[in-house]
Amino acid sequence: MRKQIAAANWKMNLTYQQGEELLDAILKENIELKEHQQAVFAVPFPYLIMAQTRLGNKKNYAAAAQNCSDQPAGAYTGEVSAEMLRSINIRYCVLGHSERREYFSEHNQSLAAKTQRCLERGITPIFCCGEPLSIREVDAQESFVEAQLKESLFHFSPEDISKIVIAYEPIWAIGTGKTASAQQAQEMHACIRGLLKAKYGQVADSIPILYGGSVKAGNAVELFSCPDVDGGLVGGASLVAADFLTIMRALK
Ligand code: 13P
Repeated sequence: MRKQIAAANWKMNLTYQQGEELLDAILKENIELKEHQQAVFAVPFPYLIMAQTRLGNKKNYAAAAQNCSDQPAGAYTGEVSAEMLRSINIRYCVLGHSERREYFSEHNQSLAAKTQRCLERGITPIFCCGEPLSIREVDAQESFVEAQLKESLFHFSPEDISKIVIAYEPIWAIGTGKTASAQQAQEMHACIRGLLKAKYGQVADSIPILYGGSVKAGNAVELFSCPDVDGGLVGGASLVAADFLTIMRALK
């Protein structure tokens, strides 16, 4: 079975102590994940070693970065490289979140470079795509997401592509409480898998495609039961232990 992933994206929330408490509360429940299931925690950079230390030896639990530099190394004040992440054993990195695209001018070309940097260091990119409301309103979401994938990812080899996780996050559903319906999510996930299949063939069947945008304890089962939804990238609800635990339990 394809990997199924519950990924927490803490964004710029929680103090270090609150982060410790949240992870401890989640780990205390000791949820035994199945072989194909994974819990991933994308935490702020200063918390990565703490998270890695807590999660590192727990099977199928992993810490993730929320971003990395598109440059390998050098005079880039304030940046964090994929090599640095790898040197503390980080195996996942969220890339191209819509908040980074909107507030930090990330674009498809720089995201292609960030993806490359991660792949070079054996870090799995969780590559985010998704349309704003104005695009959804004119029913152009498929071509919008297709351009994001083509411009950032479709020059990679099938072997590289097989190492990527995709997160479809419609921007109009992020932090708004307005979740895509299970049908809307499934339609877009099937479209994304279709694009991957047209370009890469069978490997598309093994690529996890996560849904993000107001995933909650109350809607995770319905969303994750869609055939092409392989888990979620979760913002707000990942900050509450009980909610994220319920979301983890909702994985197929
Ligand atoms: P919310 O779950 O808060 O809508 O955020 C989704 C998201 O952006 C995850 O990366």
